[in-house]
Amino acid sequence: MKKTLLLVFVFIFCNQSVFSQKETTVITIKNSENAPIINRNIYGHFAEHLGRSIYGGFFVGDTSKIPNTNGVRNDVVAALKALKIPNLRWPGGCFADTYHWKDGIGPKEERPTIVNQWWGGVTEDNSFGTHDFLNLCELLGTEPYLAGNMGSGTVQELADWVQYVNFGGKSPMSDLRVKNGRKEPWKVKIWGVGNEAWGCGGNMTADYYSGEYRKYATFMSDWDNTGGLMRVASGANSADYNWTETLMKNIPGNMLGGVALHHYSVIDWNKKGSDVDFTEDLYFKTMTQALKMEELVTKHSAIMDKYDPKKKIALVVDEWGGWYDVEKGTNPGFLYQQNTMRDAVLAGATLNIFNNHADRVRMANLAQCVNVLQAVILTDKTKMLLTPTYHLMQMYNVHQDAKLLPITINSPLYTYNGETLPAISASASKDKNGSVHISLVNVDAKKANKIEIDLTELGIKTVSGTILASSKLQDHNSFENPTKIQPAVFKGFENKKGKLEITIPPFSVLMLEGK
Ligand code: AHR
Repeated sequence: MKKTLLLVFVFIFCNQSVFSQKETTVITIKNSENAPIINRNIYGHFAEHLGRSIYGGFFVGDTSKIPNTNGVRNDVVAALKALKIPNLRWPGGCFADTYHWKDGIGPKEERPTIVNQWWGGVTEDNSFGTHDFLNLCELLGTEPYLAGNMGSGTVQELADWVQYVNFGGKSPMSDLRVKNGRKEPWKVKIWGVGNEAWGCGGNMTADYYSGEYRKYATFMSDWDNTGGLMRVASGANSADYNWTETLMKNIPGNMLGGVALHHYSVIDWNKKGSDVDFTEDLYFKTMTQALKMEELVTKHSAIMDKYDPKKKIALVVDEWGGWYDVEKGTNPGFLYQQNTMRDAVLAGATLNIFNNHADRVRMANLAQCVNVLQAVILTDKTKMLLTPTYHLMQMYNVHQDAKLLPITINSPLYTYNGETLPAISASASKDKNGSVHISLVNVDAKKANKIEIDLTELGIKTVSGTILASSKLQDHNSFENPTKIQPAVFKGFENKKGKLEITIPPFSVLMLEGK
C-alpha cells in the first residue's frame, strides 16, 4: 500500500516538474493612467548605533588613516551615492529609545558616554551625533529620517530636537545649534515617534502608545519651514493587525504621516540558521517569510483604507530584510552576517511587492546599511565590499519615482518538500523619459523558468537586460573575492515581434529595460 502511494507521488511529482519546465508564465503589463508613482523612499536605508554600523562602518573619526571626510569613510559615501539612497534612518532601532540627542552635540571630548543596552553592552562615546549624521546626509544627498526617543526620553527632549535641527529663527535650541557650528537649519521632514513601542521601545500596548503618540506629536512643531513634518508612528510587528487598527482608530489622521511595519525574514528567533552555510530547506523557509510581505502589506493596507480611504497616510516598512545567525567568531550583539544570492533574491522579491503596493507603501528601510543584518556594504578595517543586495538595489533604483505599470502574472510554483511558493515575482514601471523597467525574480532554487511578456501595448521597440546570478545560492562577495557576484549583461531573451520570451535562471534577478 505504502509502495503504491509512493509510486503515485513520484509519478505526480515528476509529471508536475516536467510540465512546469515546459510551461511558460505569461506576464501582462498595463499602461494605466491611474497607477501611482513608486515613491523613491521605498528604497531607503537604516543606520543604527549597533555593532560596526556607525563606528567602523560609516564613521572612523577624522584622525583615521582610512580616507574620510570629517570622520566619515569616503569609500562608503561614494558607494552609497552611486546607489542613490533616497533616505537614511538613524539612530535606531531599539537604540533610538535609549538615545539622548544632547549627549551627541558640542565638543566631542566633552560628550558623556552611555552603555548601549541593546547591542552588546558596549560603551557608546557619542562621538557620532546629530551634526555628524545630518552632515553625512547632505554629503550623500539623501533625506534624513530621525527616530525620536519616546521610550526613555521626554516630550520636551523630542520637541527640543525638532527645534534644534529645524528652527531658523532665534530660540534656545537654534542658538545652541549655531554655537555648535551650524547656522542654517537642516529642515528634517521625516521623524519617527518611538520604535517598536510594543517591545524594546517600552513594551506598551497599542492603546497606551496611541495616547503617548498624540502627546509627543503635538509638541513636534513644524516651525514653518519643512512644508509639514512627516511623523511616523511606531508600527506593528509583522502580522499584529490589531496594532495598526488601534493606531488608525485612535490617532487623528492630521497627526499621522505614516504608520510603520517591521517584518524580518527570520525562520525561528531561537535558531535562525547560518548566513552562508544553509541548505535548500533553510532557503525555502527564509523565502516563505520574505514572501509573506505580500499578505502583510495587503492586510495592513486594508485596515488603513477603512480609516484613510484617500490614502494620505503612508505604510512605512522601516525595517525589513533577512536575519540569520551572526558570522562565526563575531559578537552576537553586533548582528554581523554575510550576504549571499539568497539575500539578493529576497530583496528583489520584497521590492517588487513594495512597488506593486506603491499606492500605500511610500517608504521602506532595509535593515541595515553597513555591517549589520542584510547590509549593502561590509567593511573590514581599510577594506570595503559591495554585497549582492547592494547590486540588486542598484539595479532596482531605476524604479525610484517612476510610474508603476500594473502587472498580471500567474506564477508557476516553486515546490520544495511538498510545499509551494510562487516562483516568479515581478514589477514594472515607466520613468520620466518613457523607458520601461521590468524587474523579474526567479525564487526557485533549482529550475529555470520561461516567461512571456507582451510589449505591444507599451510601445517598446528595443530591450536590454541585466542579470544578477551565480552558480550557487550560497555564493557571496568576500574580502578575498569582493567581485564574485556582480550584475552582468543578460541576453537570455528573444523579442518576437513585441512578444518577449525570456528564460530566467534559478535564484536570479533580472532587470529589463525597454525603450
Ligand atoms: O535592526 C535591528 C533591530 O531589530 C532594531 O534595533 C529593532 O528595531 C528591531 O527589533
